[in-house]
Amino acid sequence: MEQYTVTVIGLGFVGLTTALGLAEAGHRVYGVEKEPARLAQIQAGQLPFAEPNLDKALVRHLANGKFQATNNALTAATASQIIFLCVGTPCGDDGAADLQYLRQAIDDTLAAFTDGQYRLYVVKSTVPPGTTKRAIAPYLAEHQTPAMQIGLVNNPEFLREGYCWQDFIQADRIVCGCEDEEAEKIMRALYAPLAIPFHSVSLNTGEYIKYLSNSMLAAMISFANEMALLGEAIGDIEIARAFRILHEDRRWADGSMKSYVYPGCGYGGYCLPKDTKALQAQAKIYHAETKILDQVIALNEQMADKVAKRIMAQTKATDRIGILGLSFKPNSDDVRDTPAAKVIALLQENGYQEIMVYDPAANGLFAEKYPQLKVSYYSNAEDVCHDADIVVILTAWSEFREIRDKIRRKPFIDGRYLL
Ligand SMILES: NC(=O)c1ccc[n+]([C@@H]2O[C@H](COP(=O)([O-])OP(=O)(O)OC[C@H]3O[C@@H](n4cnc5c(N)ncnc54)[C@H](O)[C@@H]3O)[C@@H](O)[C@H]2O)c1
Repeated sequence: MEQYTVTVIGLGFVGLTTALGLAEAGHRVYGVEKEPARLAQIQAGQLPFAEPNLDKALVRHLANGKFQATNNALTAATASQIIFLCVGTPCGDDGAADLQYLRQAIDDTLAAFTDGQYRLYVVKSTVPPGTTKRAIAPYLAEHQTPAMQIGLVNNPEFLREGYCWQDFIQADRIVCGCEDEEAEKIMRALYAPLAIPFHSVSLNTGEYIKYLSNSMLAAMISFANEMALLGEAIGDIEIARAFRILHEDRRWADGSMKSYVYPGCGYGGYCLPKDTKALQAQAKIYHAETKILDQVIALNEQMADKVAKRIMAQTKATDRIGILGLSFKPNSDDVRDTPAAKVIALLQENGYQEIMVYDPAANGLFAEKYPQLKVSYYSNAEDVCHDADIVVILTAWSEFREIRDKIRRKPFIDGRYLL
């Protein structure tokens, strides 16, 4: 087996999983993180976010020396043959993917190439189709000296938060956008120990597959929401039951796709909101029409407003509102772009003062990220049900189903069709 030394820049969900996954595959990995508190936590063997099984992998690979976390990108890159870029690509003001962190990660490591040895940049961050070829390669070319031998591929990541480790180690497929034979050989050898089907495709195709996947998932969620809103408008329709019966169709039988063909408060989290918008922005540049994608996004942006209006229609501003669930999905503590923050902000704009909230994993991160939202944090769902005048489910945690009788004793709104 070929053993590589790899640098992974950015130790978020994707970077830390990639770093530890490649260590598990037998490589020597440097993880580079610029945020001091996050770095210190990782160096101490603690995950900076909730993620099953990744915690054990972190402890294991720190102890066996396969993984080391540092803030020195240049030293790490100089010692490596492969440099993974796993930094954020958030939405800019116009919806387009903001590439500043990628450019910064390249600036931090490019000097490693001055020794004339071939090294490979792997763009694992999600970037819209066309970006590696038309933005990153030209950026490298601008800064490259004749002595530098730079390989460049993309390798989009399909992991789901809550299942990061399993989704990386036993991925369904590896997609590598690659137009350079030497680079393809290295990428195949790097991943070979994991024995996962490997697809080498053109640079644009690699990026396109990732956006195809996320836009398709977002479309299913928005369509399910549109149908649920129609059902609510007609009335006397058991919407949750209707969807569960839909899922009995054997074409849905074996899969987690069911959770996407199901209504709720709209999609949130880091990826679907920003990736659908980035694809929409990219389509504008290429003068392509995306009528369905436009509606997928528009409906999603209205969902928090619709949930807030449902709450306000049944309450007065002086009522005590109990919110169950803050993370964007169950089994995760990620609160980025979570519908709960939007619903609570809308309630507060409309004069609601007493909002009591509980999430099994995300109370702390929510308080940190949304300090402007004045809410009371509870340590369990029962107490929220006891103290509130109305209970609203905003995340489909299964533990809320277990106390459905307690929830039903009060007026309640099941924003996730969970009960
Ligand atoms: N979160 C997911 O479920 C998921 C899934 C697939 C793909 N992606 C994509 O992967 C990329 C990363 O996502 P994430 O959720 O891991 O992001 P994240 O924001 O959780 O992590 C990014 C990390 O990179 C660090 N960083 C930024 N610039 C740096 C630099 N120059 N040097 C060192 N560290 C730096 C940040 O401090 C942060 O810790 C994004 O493009 C995202 O769209 C995310």
